[in-house]
Amino acid sequence: MTATGPAADSPYPPKSFLLCSPEHFDVTFEINPWMTTERRPDRDKSWLEWNALVAGLRSAGATVHHFPSLPGLPDMVFPTDVGVVTGKRFVRGRFRHPERSNEAEHGAAWLLEHGYAEIPWPDDPALYVEGGDVIRFGEALLCGTGPRTSPAAAQQLSRVLGVEVVPVPIVDPRFYHLDMSFCPLDDRRALYAPGVWSEEGQRAVEKLVPEPLIISIDEALTFSANSVVVGRTVVMPACPPRIRTALEDWGFTVLVSPVDEFLKAGGGIRCMALDLDLLGRA
Ligand code: ARG
Repeated sequence: MTATGPAADSPYPPKSFLLCSPEHFDVTFEINPWMTTERRPDRDKSWLEWNALVAGLRSAGATVHHFPSLPGLPDMVFPTDVGVVTGKRFVRGRFRHPERSNEAEHGAAWLLEHGYAEIPWPDDPALYVEGGDVIRFGEALLCGTGPRTSPAAAQQLSRVLGVEVVPVPIVDPRFYHLDMSFCPLDDRRALYAPGVWSEEGQRAVEKLVPEPLIISIDEALTFSANSVVVGRTVVMPACPPRIRTALEDWGFTVLVSPVDEFLKAGGGIRCMALDLDLLGRA
């Protein structure tokens, strides 16, 4: 656990992430179209990619905390889904698939030990929510609904966090979390693949984002939207040339940190790095 903070004169709020190391990372079940137990991750390569990602995030100015994964929970390396964290409080994730549901208590334990308070959530199986669906843009939260987060949970999030939540129904099962098709860049700009959402979702996002960088389904299939932004650095699993040019024209620095072993489980960088203050107001 360590801290490399942003420079004191940085105009951007500091970013802190929680990552989970890949001791027990594997593909032993298939809960999304990317996973096949016939294509298992390589242990050494997973460690190399994970260590490089930690180093890359720190070099961009982020603080990175980490905790170890546990046997029997091969998807723990994607802690973004264990909750929605903001202002030292969190909503515990309620996983859609039983294969992942025990991850939530381990994520919550780390957060509680580190001084985050849990926000109560009704004990209702219809209110399932995974953090990969919840993304801040400006003053609002976008919430992917359908595959992993229920529309009712999106409303409940708005109530308990006291923020506007804009639901974005996901219709393409390959992009089962919103963070696979939408990446906020700053308060005006975002990179996204509208073809993944219902028309209602497309209209809602169009209204919200003044300066979009629209990407194709093929570009999204590289996991380019599953990225995190630290200051002006976009840390990405892959970056097709057209996207790189557009980002650089806007003044961003692109840092590609390949996580190909993790893509075998259907997760990229945003899934691997839980934002410890989603709304960034603390
Ligand atoms: N295998 C994991 C799952 O299917 C991948 C998690 C991806 N997480 C994300 N935030 N997109 O749930």
